[in-house]
Amino acid sequence: MEFGMSQTVDARHEPGPVAFIIFGGAGDLTWRKLIPSLFTLHLNRSLPDKFAIIGVDRAALSDETLRKRLHEGVRRFSNLGSTKAADWKTFAAHISYQRGDFAAAKTYAVLARRLAALDEAWNAKSVRIFHLATPPSLIGVISKSLSAAGLARERQRARIVVEKPIGSDLESARRLNRTLTKYFHESQVFRIDHYLGKETVQNILAFRFANPMFEPVWNRRYVNYVTITVAEEVGVGHRGKYYEQAGELRDMMQNHLMQLVCLVAMEPPVSFSADEIRGKKVAVLHALRPFSHDEVQASTVRGQYGRGTIQGKRVRGYREEQDVAPDSHTETYVALQLFVDNWRWQDVPFYLRAGKRMPRQLTEIVIHFRPVPHRLFPSDAVPDWQPTRVIMSIQPDEGIVLRCYAKQPGSPMRLRQVDMRFSYREAFKTPSPPAYATLLQDVMVNDATLFMRNDQVEAAWAALMPVIDAWSATPAGDISNYAAGTDGPESAKQLIERAGHAWSPIA
Ligand code: BG6
Repeated sequence: MEFGMSQTVDARHEPGPVAFIIFGGAGDLTWRKLIPSLFTLHLNRSLPDKFAIIGVDRAALSDETLRKRLHEGVRRFSNLGSTKAADWKTFAAHISYQRGDFAAAKTYAVLARRLAALDEAWNAKSVRIFHLATPPSLIGVISKSLSAAGLARERQRARIVVEKPIGSDLESARRLNRTLTKYFHESQVFRIDHYLGKETVQNILAFRFANPMFEPVWNRRYVNYVTITVAEEVGVGHRGKYYEQAGELRDMMQNHLMQLVCLVAMEPPVSFSADEIRGKKVAVLHALRPFSHDEVQASTVRGQYGRGTIQGKRVRGYREEQDVAPDSHTETYVALQLFVDNWRWQDVPFYLRAGKRMPRQLTEIVIHFRPVPHRLFPSDAVPDWQPTRVIMSIQPDEGIVLRCYAKQPGSPMRLRQVDMRFSYREAFKTPSPPAYATLLQDVMVNDATLFMRNDQVEAAWAALMPVIDAWSATPAGDISNYAAGTDGPESAKQLIERAGHAWSPIA
């Protein structure tokens, strides 16, 4: 199956032999995301002939039991539909397992020998991708041990991939970045934010900078305000332990939503190089207006879902979820008002909201334009003026809508809003590749454009630290303030409505 990826092996240089070493090889991320994505790349002929996947973990597993479990993951989580048994068998032959303690030097000595044996068999110096599908607390020990075993040394072929969250605040993110760059050069480090691998997220740059007519109006003169919504139907599921420590601000806002703000607000890059694009994104984060203590109260909302109904099914409240404290104050919903203090965006509010257990999944960016300067139409032609909008739908209906006025047929003169619609499904007739497939392929060909640089991670934390500090100083009394299946707390509506603005409906 072809996926119409932006950059397949044909379009870029053919990668040489590559070994993927997955720490946490028996874990959840590996079977839900990493292996289904690598299998997609395999079917798409984007992996080189010579590749190996080594899962490293503590569980006692054989190669065969690991492969079986991973096959089950592909069946459940891949968007490939049914695949041929023969294809899986060919792919699975490249997977092996190494049992090992992440803190023991022996694990890395054995790994180094295995990797050397692969190089010998392939008669090549392979690229080695160390993917840490582990809790962040293990990043230090794994990177240090890889370095001690001599596996981090060669910059051109040793790469380390780490997952978010990078730290839990500015200080811990700095520490983590210092640790990583003590053992690996920054150019070897790939920090994943899987939103950047989504086609629709990458398309923000294409839409803005490959068409001449949007950029001239993409500024404070024409844009009234911007809303960014990341609504999820799912709750925290079995991730209560992690989520209790994180909350929605750290889990979604600090990374995924901040990335979206950067892509919407950044200045045009002069080239498509990784550092140029990342530099322009960091500039947005540096321009975010710092929250004062009072502004945190006025410009932020936190919430937590209680019991409710989603798609006709009763669901539990957050405090009843597995591994969640019955009196937990962790937020499962966040709304913020931000300003980007620069020439382009001065005083244009950016409203961001992210929440779990919303009525349905919806990720969407809406640019709300200012009204026309003069309404020449008779007043009854448009009973209720609505802003003209560009709606970028990231998921699930991938596409872009331009919502604008058109004349209704007949007389008298009446205007109505209509949608000019671009749909990925209709335009490309091919499923989008999974975000992880795009990202893993980019690591393979050493393209860091879609990964977070250390300064960007830190700038995103720095922007949110006043919120983190103010929230921890004053725990919210009434945090359990929206029922599952509704579109968030009342106070989030007030946040936006006091300026005469509005969220778009989620349901
Ligand atoms: C992850 C968060 O990064 O993104 C999860 O940790 C969240 O809590 C997920 O559910 C959402 O990703 P997507 O691709 O389904 O929008």
